[in-house]
Amino acid sequence: MTDPRQSIMSVAHRIEELRESLRGWRALGERVALVPTMGALHAGHLSLVAEARRRARRVIVTIFVNPAQFGPSEDFSKYPRTLPADLETLAGASVDLAFAPAVEEIYPPGFATRVEVDGPARSDLEDHFRPTHFTGVATVVAKLLNQAQADVAIFGEKDYQQLLVIRRMARDLDIPTQIVAAPTLREADGLAKSSRNIYLSASERAAAPALYRTLSTSARRIAQGEEIGHVMGEAREALAGAGFAIDYLEARHGETLARVVTVQDGPIRLLAAASLGATRLIDNLAV
Ligand code: PAJ
Repeated sequence: MTDPRQSIMSVAHRIEELRESLRGWRALGERVALVPTMGALHAGHLSLVAEARRRARRVIVTIFVNPAQFGPSEDFSKYPRTLPADLETLAGASVDLAFAPAVEEIYPPGFATRVEVDGPARSDLEDHFRPTHFTGVATVVAKLLNQAQADVAIFGEKDYQQLLVIRRMARDLDIPTQIVAAPTLREADGLAKSSRNIYLSASERAAAPALYRTLSTSARRIAQGEEIGHVMGEAREALAGAGFAIDYLEARHGETLARVVTVQDGPIRLLAAASLGATRLIDNLAV
């Protein structure tokens, strides 16, 4: 039997269509939650949808592969696009509206505004390796938040620096939507769910859990009082020994991403980006 909820989901490609649905819900006084994604949906995204469901009567999921957040060496055209399957997945997750705009709908001819965030976006972590990335993220998320005017928007801790950048941006621009963080959903062996995991070869997939394992071990040792610099040095050795090429593996302040020396400088968050072959994985963990 077909799930009756599946027939209810609307799909909007235009901002005006999105607004029309919103007007109807607002007239009934219904709360709205927004979950921005780039599609290629997996269980991690669906955990955000579940969180949205808990917080609002209406759930909007956006699917937009945002060209502005891809660097020149990152292949925007190769990002996995699985719209029909994604829409089926969302209908099954009792989402009310999927918003899947074309690039020209979000960036029409003459578009000339960028949202550039300082602070957490300039922390020498992701921004060191992807210098234009967070401007692209902040610009599109500001637009999506303005378009949807939702009560809450859900973002994953998986992309921790992104989460802090979005929080900062929403606060600084007085965007009234509440930004809610959802925990990272993981495979049974600890590997964070990601649309990039499918690119791992069998041997890389076997090595991949070392990233989370290293973060967990290091977080425990730091919490138990071991010196941060020493623990992180050994963590880098362990990760390199597991076959990773490390971009960064660092202990930072969990709210500002400022550098930390002792646990008293905390709350502390461990953040890592490292590659296995051609696949770059990111992960993070609270101490
Ligand atoms: P995307 O990579 O599709 O991720 C969409 C959301 O899903 C983000 O908030 C991300 O942190 C969250 N997510 C990814 N993997 C997760 C996991 N294993 N557990 C929990 N949440 C997870 O992040 C983006 O898209 C874009 O930058 C976007 C914010 C949509 C702006 O274009």
